[in-house]
Amino acid sequence: MTAGQWWRDAVVYQVYIRSFADGDGDGLGDIAGLRSRLGYLSELGVDAIWITPWYPSPMHDAGYDVADHRGIEPTYGTLTQAEALVTEAHRRGLRLLLDLVPNHTSSAHPWFRAAWEATPGSPERQRYIFRPALGDGPPNDWRSEFGGPAWSRAGGDEWYLHLFDREQPDLNWDHAEVRADFERTLRFWFDRGIDGFRIDVAPALAKDPALSDLGGDWTSRGPRPGSAVSGDHPYWDRSEIHELYRSWRELADSYDPPRVFVAEAWVDGPERLAPYVRPDELHLAFNFDFLACPWLAPALRTVIDQTLAVHGSVGAAPSWVLSNHDVARTVSRFARPQSDRPVRVLAELVGIEADAAVGEARARAAALLMLALPGGATLYQGEELGLPEVEDLPDHARADPIFERSGRLDPGRDGCRIPLPWDGAEPPYGFSTGRVTWLPQPAGWASRAASAQAADAGSVLSLYRRALRIRREHPALGDGSMEWHRSDHGVLSFSRLPGFHCVVNVSGAPQPVPPGCDVLLASGPLAAGGMIPPDTSVWLSTDGAPR
Ligand code: NOJ
Repeated sequence: MTAGQWWRDAVVYQVYIRSFADGDGDGLGDIAGLRSRLGYLSELGVDAIWITPWYPSPMHDAGYDVADHRGIEPTYGTLTQAEALVTEAHRRGLRLLLDLVPNHTSSAHPWFRAAWEATPGSPERQRYIFRPALGDGPPNDWRSEFGGPAWSRAGGDEWYLHLFDREQPDLNWDHAEVRADFERTLRFWFDRGIDGFRIDVAPALAKDPALSDLGGDWTSRGPRPGSAVSGDHPYWDRSEIHELYRSWRELADSYDPPRVFVAEAWVDGPERLAPYVRPDELHLAFNFDFLACPWLAPALRTVIDQTLAVHGSVGAAPSWVLSNHDVARTVSRFARPQSDRPVRVLAELVGIEADAAVGEARARAAALLMLALPGGATLYQGEELGLPEVEDLPDHARADPIFERSGRLDPGRDGCRIPLPWDGAEPPYGFSTGRVTWLPQPAGWASRAASAQAADAGSVLSLYRRALRIRREHPALGDGSMEWHRSDHGVLSFSRLPGFHCVVNVSGAPQPVPPGCDVLLASGPLAAGGMIPPDTSVWLSTDGAPR
């Protein structure tokens, strides 16, 4: 590892706070619940925690609609509790990242309330993106990421922009007050010992001042496939965004130890991701190409090679990720037949037959692949328990705004946000002392509960614990380089110095363990004769082995 740059090979654990652990019995996760489970995270062996937004919010988008960036949502706790959490996490050697939501605020933010009451052209409206109607309709043809138009009507025959829900008005990042206020927010949390931020929708902040129509030239998140990548999409991944991130980097570097940023940037391939992680910009960017990659050896190899090349070209460490609170659970994506088409969300899986055992085997193998690659990784809570997507939530329980905004056609993201099972035979599985959880948990998760898995050496949790322990201790793992070995079709085989080899069997046939290697860890039982079964990864020690 590069000295002092802990983030280059950190394993970060994403806490989706509403669904992690409930300390006060109201069925919603909170700071007290999280604090009571810090021991679990230390034992798991992660290096840092990223907590999804915990700020005051009307919760139209589960907290990504922030009403006050420098406060704590009362249902989650208090600022004093937050400060105590930072202290205790640090005492346990865990770093803490928060979620910064700079593209938009909640419509309940005092700034938007003032803008709503104010008249066209007023200073209050200039912090957001208000525009006169075009004829009787919205100012342009942009669509919300959640479905429907990206504009809603306000008073004075004006419309305001919201790339997400109508309760999430977009801020105007050309406004000096907006910039100054976010710097204040960064300092507020950095001064309280927070180690860094994940930046929500990092590519969306800069907008074309002309607000030109998308027309036929662009998709909502970039150019049409196959067309030139230029950085002048009307609102996605525009070149001028980088100046802002350079200024934030300076601010983060003024702290001791320096604070860290992770970009949430769904962009058009690794070449577009690289600028975000240049040496004077953000430290890390989630590798969503890896997340969305099908379980097919050529596709995986291509993503890995491109990621390493492009990150290497700017001196950045990759940040591998298999899932998060916006995509269908890994186990459920991999339970489907795999095709070249990347798959992310539940809507893309509905109606496709699933094989749960295959999904779990692949997810376990993918975890060992991810944790063996050069760089760092982020785990999404429940991934270490092998939780599947809950695909059959009743409509009345669905809370994600995508469900309603899509005219109830898209089931949305609730299925990966179900409260965690900790112990016990039935819901709420130790998540809460109350009986009702904010999203219902399925029957049949008792064997998935953390305590049941901790007692089972063959569980997904035990696999993650062992993998993270080996990763910490093995000098070859984490930041660094790797070398591919020639292998059969459908097999990924690579080594890392000193003395480490990983074989991932993505083929349909058992594969031999390379000669002279000792098995350190396997994602599933080996077959007769020590062969590596399909959908299985092995970590091998090559110390002293002939090469
Ligand atoms: C990305 C977040 O991960 C997602 O949950 C949220 O809905 C959007 N950004 C809008 O903030």
